[in-house]
Amino acid sequence: MGWQDAKGTKIVTRNFGVANSHKLAVYTSGGGWEGFKKAITAAPPALLDEVKKSNLRGRGGAGFSTGMKWSFIPKEAKRVYLVCNADESEPGTCKDRELLAYDPHMLIEGMTIASYTVGCKHAYIYIRGEMMREAKIVQAAIDEAYEAGWLGREHATANGPFKLDITLHRGAGAYICGEETALLNSLEGQRGWPRLKPPFPAVKGLFKEATIVNNVETLMNVPDIVLKGGDWFAKLGTAKSGGTRIVCVSGHVKKPGVYELPMGIPFRDLIYDVCGGIVGDRPLKGLIPGGSSMPPLDASEIDVPIEFDALMTDPRIKDVEAKPGVPFDLGGGRRLKTMAGSGGVVVFDDSTDVVALCARIMRFYAHESCGQCTPCREGTGWLARVCTRLAAGDGRPGDVDLLAHVAVGIAGNTICALGEAAAWPMLGFLTKFRGDFEQRLRKVA
Ligand SMILES: Cc1cc2nc3c(=O)[nH]c(=O)nc-3n(C[C@H](O)[C@H](O)[C@H](O)COP(=O)(O)O)c2cc1C
Ligand code: SF4
Repeated sequence: MGWQDAKGTKIVTRNFGVANSHKLAVYTSGGGWEGFKKAITAAPPALLDEVKKSNLRGRGGAGFSTGMKWSFIPKEAKRVYLVCNADESEPGTCKDRELLAYDPHMLIEGMTIASYTVGCKHAYIYIRGEMMREAKIVQAAIDEAYEAGWLGREHATANGPFKLDITLHRGAGAYICGEETALLNSLEGQRGWPRLKPPFPAVKGLFKEATIVNNVETLMNVPDIVLKGGDWFAKLGTAKSGGTRIVCVSGHVKKPGVYELPMGIPFRDLIYDVCGGIVGDRPLKGLIPGGSSMPPLDASEIDVPIEFDALMTDPRIKDVEAKPGVPFDLGGGRRLKTMAGSGGVVVFDDSTDVVALCARIMRFYAHESCGQCTPCREGTGWLARVCTRLAAGDGRPGDVDLLAHVAVGIAGNTICALGEAAAWPMLGFLTKFRGDFEQRLRKVA
């Protein structure tokens, strides 16, 4: 099925706009918890196969196969945890916040099915500290699910008795705690510093036990996958990415917002059809495709589909260059163009000062670096300072090459991907808009 055929299909946002959609009675009257009832008639390996078949890929940013991740739990694991990553802090991204507010019961059901599948008895939701309203809504939904017996009570299943507890944990406002191992440290009551990997959380995660960390949107797709089948979900998407995709569009479009769209819709259709075009009908300069850590696309590249693999490999997109003429290699044969990331699309018109935009992004990552590794701690500071002086028209000769040099020095040399979150967009902005940066060198009298 192509993206046009899937137009209109809503999964995780289908209850947006329904009165009291956050209440259990409304959720169950619309078919809620039917997925769980079906799930417990099957053995966990059969459910895992269904999720694998669905081609569901993680919506937290990296697009890793969910079924594959679940299958990494060691057979001999004595205790398994499931953690929902609701820390959403990537600039430009505001989808999980809406999902939590409108449909917390879909998340709870998704987590319950996921827990049954991977053998978890106690699951956690780690919610961003600033999301106070959503935390209240989610806690109220958890309380309702306990009262109704979905949580905290034994269910007879094809695999024997199953009971799940869910605890909501509020973060304290650090972007780095969205990184899964920093999140686990924070949940344990330690400083939110990322851990060296391996071991990956599936083997040694929360309290040193096998742990699955999944994004809110990822888990909310699970009830429908079970109810309607992995094949149904896979067919909605593209060859290797099943289902729909939520994008949160901001910037210079006439109709910004959070949209659930067919996987693979091109950016052109998103901007000019779904979002009504550019404000004032000005020319487009470019866009950030999936949160501020993703390299931008320029106006000539908007026919690329919004989909995990296409954004990395579409031959119509130029290679990102580390320096002029030197392509930046992500390793493993993958050339970095950009990535679908978190779904946060930021559209900018021809009036945009891209150097100032890039400098703002760099200051964010410099501020949020946890400081454990030198390339990230020092490098993000350099990127922020040099970009900021360029934006002020005070760039020094060699500054543009210096930015590329520092960015290449960060990428691949850090404990977690926050380093790349700064380095990749830096390289992307330099490749796509190098002229804008060069114009900002200080004029020597
Ligand atoms: C610096 C950093 C911040 C992150 N922030 C988030 C976040 O806020 N929410 C999220 O779901 N994933 C975030 N991730 C990705 C998580 O580490 C993890 O890959 C994800 O939660 C896995 O879920 P998924 O497989 O369902 O995508 C972040 C990663 C990095 C490196
Ligand atoms: S890359 Fe940056 S944020 Fe990640 S562990 Fe190293 S210093 Fe901390």
